[in-house]
Amino acid sequence: MYTVIELSYIASAVLFIFGLKMLGKPATAVRGNKVSAVGMLIAVVATLLHEGMDFKWILLGMVIGGVIGTVAALRVPMTSMPEFVALFNGTGGLASLLVGWAEYNTFLNTPEGTLELVPVIAIYLAVLIGGVTFTGSMIAYAKLAERIDGRPVLYKGQQIVNGVLLALLLFCGGVYIAGPGTALAQPLFYLAVLLSLVLGVLVTIPIGGADMPVVISLLNSYSGLAACAAGFVISNTVLIVAGALVGASGIILTSIMCKAMNRSLTNVLFSGFGAAGDAAAAGKAATGEVKAITPEDAYYVLEAAGSVVFVPGYGMAVAQAQHVVRELGYLLEQNGAEVKYAVHPVAGRMPGHMNVLLAEANVPYEQLVEMEDINPNIESVDVCVVIGANDVVNPAAREDETSPIYGMPIINVDLARSCFVLKRSMRSGFAGVENPLFYKENTRMLFGDAKASITTLVDQFKSA
Ligand code: TAP
Repeated sequence: MYTVIELSYIASAVLFIFGLKMLGKPATAVRGNKVSAVGMLIAVVATLLHEGMDFKWILLGMVIGGVIGTVAALRVPMTSMPEFVALFNGTGGLASLLVGWAEYNTFLNTPEGTLELVPVIAIYLAVLIGGVTFTGSMIAYAKLAERIDGRPVLYKGQQIVNGVLLALLLFCGGVYIAGPGTALAQPLFYLAVLLSLVLGVLVTIPIGGADMPVVISLLNSYSGLAACAAGFVISNTVLIVAGALVGASGIILTSIMCKAMNRSLTNVLFSGFGAAGDAAAAGKAATGEVKAITPEDAYYVLEAAGSVVFVPGYGMAVAQAQHVVRELGYLLEQNGAEVKYAVHPVAGRMPGHMNVLLAEANVPYEQLVEMEDINPNIESVDVCVVIGANDVVNPAAREDETSPIYGMPIINVDLARSCFVLKRSMRSGFAGVENPLFYKENTRMLFGDAKASITTLVDQFKSA
């Protein structure tokens, strides 16, 4: 049986790796998800084949967890996905913490039991990382779901408090690892459980609401590392592999997001972006004339356009305009225009936010283009239609060295022949910086809710 289990674990690991690879492209992402799910099913079944299972508790857990998971997954709206993922990460962290804790208790309650160094360290890491992940994710969830104020909480001496807490955790860990069964190690282990929970809260509160997606991705990585440690605790190969894969992919995603925002991870974690006072750092005041356009006039320009590129941003998610955008895209194609959708890696508020919305509206994958691919050809585009995007199309990132987003890669919509910006007002985007795009000679502002504006354009095309 041992061989069957281990071979099944290898099969699961292979499916996880292929699944992850497929998740990297919109065209294969859905299949990748299914492949990974099959891998998980094999892993679960193989684990249940181990000897000495108490099926009554396992079944109870599976039924309760399955019901909660299914109901939550069916009911959660797409816009609440980031906080849903935060909850997932949090429960993963809690599970690892409990595995470590339970294993330590088993050791304490087995009079002649001994613990090798690897499981001793693994137990501590599972508890420490699991605890930080659990409470950190709960705070991230509460901020994103607006259960608590989403702004960064900053106070004097914050780094010192966190540093002291970390030092205490290292001290507790040192004493515990030196002799896990000693009278001193036991209370210090439980103190470490408590401190890791507190640390999770303290390291997450200084982070601003809209930086939460980066933090969620980081916490996702932590939950993987905690699971990996838990795998070492219970000597489960597939848990070690799956945990390591989650840990690594979470870190890679975090780094991609930071790069696309032109910010370092330390800046995200410690700068309190979005805290009161950031408005002062809005870069140079933009000058020029803002030229508004009506949907009727915009229609005439689009009607004559040979190539149109839609550039969606957070406002498209707010307006839920993806379906009408797709409809407009279809009508433009019928009219003979070449239509593309250019997606910036951090447009919106979570990784792949725009891809998910455009996929929901059945936008063909082959019409999606990445920033690197559209920018070299953007000068030949007749009209760029910016739908609720702001920071990701802000030319200040290219032109204004004093701008806080200077150096951030953007989609160069200002270099297209003409550009329509659909938004409700002149307000700035997430970064709180002025956008000179709105004042450019070839820009026209189409003010109003993006869905309403696009619907009017669709109606114009239909009635033409
Ligand atoms: P933003 O810069 O946040 O701009 C969104 C724009 O949408 C706003 O200027 C807003 O203008 C407009 N808007 C809101 N509701 C609208 C509606 N109903 N109809 C039309 N327009 C509407 O968005 P972006 O360009 O997508 O950039 C994303 C930002 O989030 C970047 O700064 C990025 O670094 C940051 N961020 C992203 C992520 C990920 S992973 N995507 C993670 C963390 C942070 P009005 O209010 O005038 O309408």
